Amino acid sequence: MALVLGTKIAQHDACFALVKDGEVLCIYEEERFNRIKHGHCSTSVALNRLLSDYGITVSDIDYVTNYIDVQLFPFILNDILDPSFRAAKLAANPEDKNSMMDWFYNAYAGMLLTYGFEKSKIVSVRHHLAHMAGAFYPSPCHSAALISADGFGEAESAVIAKGEGSDIQILQSNEYPASLGALYLAFTNFLGWDYGEEGKTMALASYGKPKYLDKFIGEYLNLQDNGFFTYRKPELLGECTFLVNPFVEKMFGTPRKREDKLTQYHMDIAATIQEFTNQTFIKLAKEAKKLTNEKTLVISGGVALNSVANGQILKQNLFDEVLAYPHSNDAGTAVGGALWVEYSKLGNKRQNHWYFNHAYLGTQIDSENIESVAEKYDLSYKKVENPAKVAADLISEGKIVGWVQGRAEIGPRALGNRSILGNPANANIKNLINSKVKNRENWRPFAPSVLAEDAALYFDTNQKLPYMIIVADVRPEWRDKIPSVIHVDGTARVQTVDKNVNPRFYELLTEMKRKTGLGMVLNTSFNAGGEPIISTTEQAIKNFLTTEMDALIIDNAVFEDKANAQPCDKFAVHQSTFAALDPTKPLYVLGVSDNSDISFYTEFLSHLAYWEQPVAIHPHLEKLSGIKLNALLPEQIIEDPGFDNASILVLGGQTASHWTFDAYLIRAELVVQGFDYFPNHQILSIAQNGGVSDLNVLQLHQKFMLENGQF
Ligand SMILES: [Fe+2]
Repeated sequence: MALVLGTKIAQHDACFALVKDGEVLCIYEEERFNRIKHGHCSTSVALNRLLSDYGITVSDIDYVTNYIDVQLFPFILNDILDPSFRAAKLAANPEDKNSMMDWFYNAYAGMLLTYGFEKSKIVSVRHHLAHMAGAFYPSPCHSAALISADGFGEAESAVIAKGEGSDIQILQSNEYPASLGALYLAFTNFLGWDYGEEGKTMALASYGKPKYLDKFIGEYLNLQDNGFFTYRKPELLGECTFLVNPFVEKMFGTPRKREDKLTQYHMDIAATIQEFTNQTFIKLAKEAKKLTNEKTLVISGGVALNSVANGQILKQNLFDEVLAYPHSNDAGTAVGGALWVEYSKLGNKRQNHWYFNHAYLGTQIDSENIESVAEKYDLSYKKVENPAKVAADLISEGKIVGWVQGRAEIGPRALGNRSILGNPANANIKNLINSKVKNRENWRPFAPSVLAEDAALYFDTNQKLPYMIIVADVRPEWRDKIPSVIHVDGTARVQTVDKNVNPRFYELLTEMKRKTGLGMVLNTSFNAGGEPIISTTEQAIKNFLTTEMDALIIDNAVFEDKANAQPCDKFAVHQSTFAALDPTKPLYVLGVSDNSDISFYTEFLSHLAYWEQPVAIHPHLEKLSGIKLNALLPEQIIEDPGFDNASILVLGGQTASHWTFDAYLIRAELVVQGFDYFPNHQILSIAQNGGVSDLNVLQLHQKFMLENGQF
């Protein structure tokens, strides 16, 4: 029995999870704190909030987990991984065979040391074990077949395993660079979107036909019966990185740019990768059944967010039950790592164990601030006895309602605590929410939340589907009656709502049924386009004020009238991270990216419009070797009178989120000279993927490493 902190630090889906004696107390996803969708980088804000919420310090924690086991990392991958990884090795010492491992250790575990964790408490967990542990251990079943599929962890991209009691045995694994997750991302990139936007590809697929699947498999893949595959054409393999897939470009030609029109060609390409994923998942599930003969299948890993492929497995009826959880992405490796320590490392029995029956493990909404925030924006509100009834009245009248209560849901889907709700029977509500509130593409579907006991009436499922992670067919007789929550292919990403799990949301659905005969709402996440789900009362109120949302209900406070409210700016993306920089100072933007196109930094560039002071952009100073920041700055910048006390943003390529944690890079000139050279400057570095490193943290880390003889 122990207090364990699971972490996914740095990179995408950064997360902290606290587990006490096998019970998950909380899961804090970094994105909700740094306000960058998918996190992309850890700050100390999320960890400090967790420690403060539970009244503990770092020294109270018995173990802290790291979501990757560097000992399992094969050196050969160095030849095929991203340039960012290769650059790291070069930065370390190309002659030293251990440098890759050292680099990883410093990149991933180094930050934990900086936070003050003792080295002896750090446990590295094999990535897919962490994924599966996060789903199997908190499941209600004693034994199950397990599948985990993602981009990659160490060298594996997908595994089939069996879980029994406290034990998880990996039976088969697929090796990177062949990777379903990476291939899906490559297709998504080809279609003009980034990591984290794979859901758009999945939605678009319904409008196309998988015309190119046979040709793609025929030319480039060796697909096995168990769902694993390898690439053909080794000459192309050398060009393959996590973000560049030469096979996709060879096959389909010029990639679509984000702003380009979507054509039938793009829809057919999306359908091709979706059908490949469906078929692969079915093969994996059949193999898992064959190997384990279990009744339940538990799916995890980033690809398990593909609700369509999960639905395809469900339809096969291979298993009595198919389970997937909202933390399928890498946030789940924080939860899973901690549970793995409890059950596998410490060997505790999984009897009468805590099991996952709800997703409300994020932070509590700060309703104590409702009054002061309302005052700040000159906003009136009323307190009501029965907010569920008020919400149902408004929704049934065709209003768009923001609905906030309790603890935040984990994962990308709002499940009734940070939601925007509408009437699913209203054919126009989808367009209204898209145009007035969410500012998103009209071809993407919205999902329904339904009273659990009524689900089988509308949807073709006998199983509870509480997390919007498995799609089900809508029964034909209901398709005309709930037009705004049905996808073009007749499916819906349904959430079944139990009375015991979310009583207030259940009450809202009951009131809807009383009023309209239909115990269902359209439920979409409470966020503006491109932002993470809201975390605070103020973020909810700002969203209410800057969109055409009709009403906002936070706990029992109802906001409707906003005619006389104070104007407020829409800006929220990167808000907290950029808050570290003083907007009243001039800003210098320096490009040290190895990629020459500054337009990749879209989120960051959108922020510049809000800067109050002059912005000087020098996008192409040098390549990534430009970590010697001060040596790169042309004289005219340094001599510019505005440069004194200016803020500096470094556009840092893919690796920026790693910089913070990498001892070799810290030892390089960036900090040693850069900070001495520019002592009055605030410096942030920004990665192309949205990761932001506060380079002041580098100083802390460097100090720690020096004091502890790590250099
Ligand atoms: Fe993963």
